[in-house]
Amino acid sequence: LVDGALIPWRGETSNVFSTISSTEDYKPTLLGSIPTLGKKEALIALDSAVSAYNKGQGLWPTMKVVDRIACMEKFVEQMKTKRAEVVKLLMWEIGKNLPDSEKEFDRTVEYIYDTIEDYKQMDRDSAKFEKNSGVNAHIRRGPLGVVLCLGPYNYPLNETFALLIPALIMGNTAIFKPAKHGVLLISPLLEAFRDSFPKGVVNIIYGRGRTVAAPIMQSGKVDVLALIGNSKSANALQNQHPKSNRLRLVLGLEAKNPAIVLPDADLDLAIDECIAGTTSFNGQRCTALKVLYVHEAIVEEFNKRFSAKVDTLKFGNPWEDGAKLTPLPEPDKPAYIQDLIDDATEKGAKVINAKGGETTDNYIFPAVLYPVTKDMRVFQEEQFGPVIPVVPFSDIEEPLDDMAESNYGQQVSLFGKDTKTLAPLIDTLVNLVCRVNLNSSCQRGPDVYPFTGRKDSAVATLSVHDALRSFSIRTFVASKDN
Ligand code: G3H
Repeated sequence: LVDGALIPWRGETSNVFSTISSTEDYKPTLLGSIPTLGKKEALIALDSAVSAYNKGQGLWPTMKVVDRIACMEKFVEQMKTKRAEVVKLLMWEIGKNLPDSEKEFDRTVEYIYDTIEDYKQMDRDSAKFEKNSGVNAHIRRGPLGVVLCLGPYNYPLNETFALLIPALIMGNTAIFKPAKHGVLLISPLLEAFRDSFPKGVVNIIYGRGRTVAAPIMQSGKVDVLALIGNSKSANALQNQHPKSNRLRLVLGLEAKNPAIVLPDADLDLAIDECIAGTTSFNGQRCTALKVLYVHEAIVEEFNKRFSAKVDTLKFGNPWEDGAKLTPLPEPDKPAYIQDLIDDATEKGAKVINAKGGETTDNYIFPAVLYPVTKDMRVFQEEQFGPVIPVVPFSDIEEPLDDMAESNYGQQVSLFGKDTKTLAPLIDTLVNLVCRVNLNSSCQRGPDVYPFTGRKDSAVATLSVHDALRSFSIRTFVASKDN
């Protein structure tokens, strides 16, 4: 979708395969193809976004608020009619199970409505008078400019829209490149975008990052880089911008969220929450629990019950009833997870669950590794997949020191009962991460709460409320009180 038109494409295309097999003999399934645009088309999309931003009165950034809201409402109404198609593609393209695919779609719709509501309530336009200054200020909150928006494969609809929707409603214009896995599912929505927004406000392009995103950044015309994904891509794109220090960044990046299980924790609860936190969508969530610190007084019992329960999880295709573990969309992921397991076992850890590491073509069963130490890759790297490191500790300072040294700082889960122990610990933890989950696993929602991270985990804050602020700036018109 470029400059308000769905351009018929006669150039090069790329096939999109699913790692899910539709036949008994395992073979990747061809789902469809997408146009692979080149630099020329990417720059046309950019020019369209630039001119839609700069075109002056009455158009997108200066359009009446009610009119911009009407565009967004039209979009979401049309989007809702595509639910079945998008949900099906979520299952086929990224292997997300049916309940979670439906939830991703519905959560996104709700996110759009909530964003509209929050935008209506926002203090966008107010008059202020500073006592004795003689200066009146008419303060406005307005857009930043042109946004390049890229989302991740694990939430190709929801997280991308958590960037795109607030950016648009604030009056920015955008070029949006869907994730590599989870690209076809945007196609059913192209017409809704075309029919709802003035031309050039949203441009949707396909293609390889280095071919299409790089020249857009090199142009120096992008004001905001909005990306949820990995810091390698974010840094590479940021560095392409000739004046990167004036680029506004809205980034959601890596995390290595720990769980800390204290000796007095309710073990049944801690085990259930740690299972959800480590295995939901096969661990492919930035909010997943990626290392479990368990106190040495209870670690034996924890390991026995936790690993037995992991082995009860059902593997199946996304639409199968009760399938908790599903095929991995990245073809190289099982081999990468196996490398982490091999490295840990060579250095002294054991796979403590019977099914851990079993492979089925495009899947590897979650391996619970114990005891994991700092020299192991699975401790250091964000695994983003089905492998679960368990680290024993005797003194709470051990996990706290590790968190202080870590490059990441998104969330932590803390399991325990004694409020006298928990209260000071929570006070320490909130200064190391941005969300402390008490007796529950880590997660992003509810979407009205701030979603961010310290250190390398995030730049700026998302959420229904915060994203509107992340994609805008306060300006004012001053006049003397003559
Ligand atoms: O991948 C990171 C997502 O923000 C995780 O979101 O906690 O709702 O699954 P979630």
